[in-house]
Amino acid sequence: MRLAKLKLRDFRNIRRVDAVFEPGFHLLLGRNAQGKTNLLEAVYLLATLRSFRGVGNAQIVRHGQKAFFAGGLALGQAESDIRHYWSAAQRKLTVNEKPMRRVADYLGTLRTVVFCAEDALLVNGPAKSRRRFLDLLLTQTQPGYLDLLHRYTEALRSRNALLRRDSPDLAMLDSFTRELVANGEKLIAARLDLVKKLSPLVRLGTRKIAANPEDARITYAPSVREDFAVELAKSRAREQRYRTTLVGPHRDDLKLTLDGQPAAQYGSEGQKRTLAIALKMAQADYLGGIHGSPPILLIDDVMGELDAGRRAGLMPLVSRTGQALGQVFMTCTEENWPGELSGNLHRWQVEEGAVSRKR
Ligand SMILES: Nc1ncnc2c1ncn2[C@@H]1O[C@H](COP(=O)(O)OP(=O)(O)O)[C@@H](O)[C@H]1O
Ligand SMILES: [Mg+2]
Repeated sequence: MRLAKLKLRDFRNIRRVDAVFEPGFHLLLGRNAQGKTNLLEAVYLLATLRSFRGVGNAQIVRHGQKAFFAGGLALGQAESDIRHYWSAAQRKLTVNEKPMRRVADYLGTLRTVVFCAEDALLVNGPAKSRRRFLDLLLTQTQPGYLDLLHRYTEALRSRNALLRRDSPDLAMLDSFTRELVANGEKLIAARLDLVKKLSPLVRLGTRKIAANPEDARITYAPSVREDFAVELAKSRAREQRYRTTLVGPHRDDLKLTLDGQPAAQYGSEGQKRTLAIALKMAQADYLGGIHGSPPILLIDDVMGELDAGRRAGLMPLVSRTGQALGQVFMTCTEENWPGELSGNLHRWQVEEGAVSRKR
């Protein structure tokens, strides 16, 4: 899959970009605060309709303007002309001029995997970051998953609202509980199955990046040990005290270990960084396997955070993805220029929100 064209208007510090991208490896070069990450953010936004910086659309509109536009031509099995216009008053998303009303129908039009500073949260952050990682990947690969997740979240919200009351209606509680269990069991099953498939890819990833890698393992850690309904019933007394739902997939975690020890506490910064990158590489491998073509890789400033050995391991990995009909966009400052890269590169200069081809 690749992005053949990108058109931006008033997207952060980018006034306008009209770029044509060939397949292959694209290096976005420039000093700090010129708009390199903003460019990756735009591509990611076209793929997921969200920012990887976790902000709303209002912050993306260029200061002093009222709307932004992001569009692109995605070439995969189909050819998709994507146009996304956003202002506080109006949001318009079309593919080949057809309005997209449901996010679930749109996702998959452009597939990307981003590598950025925030990935550190996968290892160091709260369980929520890891659940989101799994959920995003399932959303990218299973057509009904997003709806399932919404139904579960809705049931959980209703149930928690009820639990906050002094004397909740028990018939209503029962009905939300049934909804919660029915959808929750499916969520857990889907995540368990995904982690089983991802786990060997993560181990492989760390071995490719580092010469003497630690043994990286990932396992799904469910808060429900055996039976969701039974354990929910058992937690009723505690629920009354805490006034919230205490077991279920919203409390689950993805356990990460290095040589059998919890990665967050045990790993060095470099090891944790490698593990986070391996998780993302696994995501890309898994997506590529399922859809038959690799997703677009968006790599933001990761070179500076790895030692020379690990850099040397990562580079061939990503450049191969770039060559195999895929596409990689990688940002770099001049100091972090990866000397390991050679061969077929497309270089772009990013300066004050303008993008130009560099020879
Ligand atoms: N909504 C916005 N409107 C205008 N400029 C913005 C907006 N959001 C961020 N910026 C500017 O974008 C620049 C940062 O761009 P970024 O892509 O993060 O830089 P880098 O090239 O270092 O990756 C900063 O100068 C910041 O002030
Ligand atoms: Mg940046």
